[in-house]
Amino acid sequence: MATVGTNQRQAKLVLLGDMGAGKSSLVLRFTKGQFFDYQESTIGAAFLTQTLAVNDTTIKFEIWDTAGQERYHSLAPMYYRGAAAAIIVYDITNPDSFTRAKKWVQELQSQGSSNLVMALAGNKADLEAKRSTKPEEAQAYAEENGLFFMETSAKTAQNVNELFYEIAKRLPKLQPAGQQGISLSERPAPAAAKSSMCCA
Ligand code: GTP
Ligand code: MG
Repeated sequence: MATVGTNQRQAKLVLLGDMGAGKSSLVLRFTKGQFFDYQESTIGAAFLTQTLAVNDTTIKFEIWDTAGQERYHSLAPMYYRGAAAAIIVYDITNPDSFTRAKKWVQELQSQGSSNLVMALAGNKADLEAKRSTKPEEAQAYAEENGLFFMETSAKTAQNVNELFYEIAKRLPKLQPAGQQGISLSERPAPAAAKSSMCCA
């Protein structure tokens, strides 16, 4: 595959949301194409990377998958500080998780970087029969608050790649000249596209 003329960028991305909403499952689906019915609850946070090509640019996402349990809340700023993008995840079958997602949006609006790309992901879209949050409600909330919204399913892979692709397209350095932001690092990424996982 030709790499000549390809720009490489890195972008720190954080996932936030209630425990059990499916943050780790979305990341695992995106980075490894896997899904587990019995995904373990995250302790602290997990770090993974994955690259994605958008037009002539390769984005290396440096992904912080945070723990949704309330006792880890105080750690969250370490992960969203300096982030270029955030995915706030809720579970479409759990109304409390939607309430929690809105709290995360508020926290990011007051504490996050000013040109943060924010996405709202209504996960577990495969569980339509158990739905509690209507997409119209989430869409309206997202529009009011400057996020973009998608329903996803880590289980079926519905909209998972699309979610990360939409984020990549919105990163400031991929916008036409004159609209550029400063949140992306210009350091060259390793040539090989690969994902990796470790714990923090
Ligand atoms: P914490 O790490 O505790 O914050 O949770 P999390 O947001 O990382 O959730 P996790 O990915 O661990 O998923 C919780 C449970 O929901 C697991 O049993 C997953 O198998 C399940 N799950 C995640 N995504 C989906 C989905 O899209 N559809 C369905 N049906 N189940 C899902
Ligand atoms: Mg997790």
